[in-house]
Amino acid sequence: MTDNFSFSRLRRLRNNGVIRGYVSENSLDIKKFVYPLFIRFGVDVKEPISSMPGCFNISLDHLKREVEYIVSLGITGVLLFGIPEMKDAVGSDCYSDDGIIQEAIKVIKDTAPDLYVITDICLCEYTDHGHCGIVENGVINNDETIKLLGESALTHVQAGADMVAPSAMMDGQVKAIRSLLDAGSFTHIPIMGYSAKYSSAFYGPFREAADSTPSFGDRKAYQMDPSNRRMALEEVESDIKEGADIVMVKPALSYLDVIHEVRQKYNKPLAAYNVSGEYSLIKAAAEKGWVDEKSATLEVLTSISRAGADMIISYHAKDVAQWLA
Ligand code: PBG
Repeated sequence: MTDNFSFSRLRRLRNNGVIRGYVSENSLDIKKFVYPLFIRFGVDVKEPISSMPGCFNISLDHLKREVEYIVSLGITGVLLFGIPEMKDAVGSDCYSDDGIIQEAIKVIKDTAPDLYVITDICLCEYTDHGHCGIVENGVINNDETIKLLGESALTHVQAGADMVAPSAMMDGQVKAIRSLLDAGSFTHIPIMGYSAKYSSAFYGPFREAADSTPSFGDRKAYQMDPSNRRMALEEVESDIKEGADIVMVKPALSYLDVIHEVRQKYNKPLAAYNVSGEYSLIKAAAEKGWVDEKSATLEVLTSISRAGADMIISYHAKDVAQWLA
């Protein structure tokens, strides 16, 4: 008699789609996705972002139609980035009451009050030097910068934003924002910290889209070194202590180990940012016919969820909404 127990027959649970569905441990849900939107100054702008096929820079007059489309797909939230008409040394448009983002929020809330609006809080799209903070003698002044990040957050929330997400990687940015929001009677508005944000080559296409490549140097004096894992935990811990309601790991794919570990160690909801370069890689390979776009994308996004992310910020969200519908 043969020994039936000398090996495990794991394939029994893969016999057909029904049983595979029953034992599946993770599934994607469009309600977990946030779609990033680029809003640019100007009139009648709908400019394709060449390095991010399918993504556009749009002006305020196109926003209503775009928002209606996003909502019709079943996408429940957006993350806003603004490209102002005038960039200056201190990023004034970012904390101006009628800045590009503040105006965009009003249009979105007029069009679709239930679409959840998160704003990215950083100076790099608004400064003429492209750095994420105030530069003095070639270095970023951390403590002056966080005051401006706080003011930006306040104006975004006054315009109607549901949540703010500081991404400048300045120390104390979550605390500075929390205190200003609380003082302005916005105690109910949550903060999502870009807690462990690495200095990554995968932001390349975004910087083309937002015209935010630093004019000198790089972001290594504030964004994290990709070789560090323990330091990411310190960043997450300090954001939580400062009052972050949600923490984030960014980018996602080269940092699945970090996502996993943050999930194990902390109870806060965890977001992962599937960044521009990660999106562009799949789009480019799919265009060449080298990978199947749908299955590659869903595999990648499932890996982010499996690693432990509760919510995923992704340029693929529109495609995902259609594939899952
Ligand atoms: C702003 C910001 C960046 C991204 C999100 N917020 C650019 C950067 O840090 O250079 C990148 C997002 C992406 O690549 O999709 N600081």
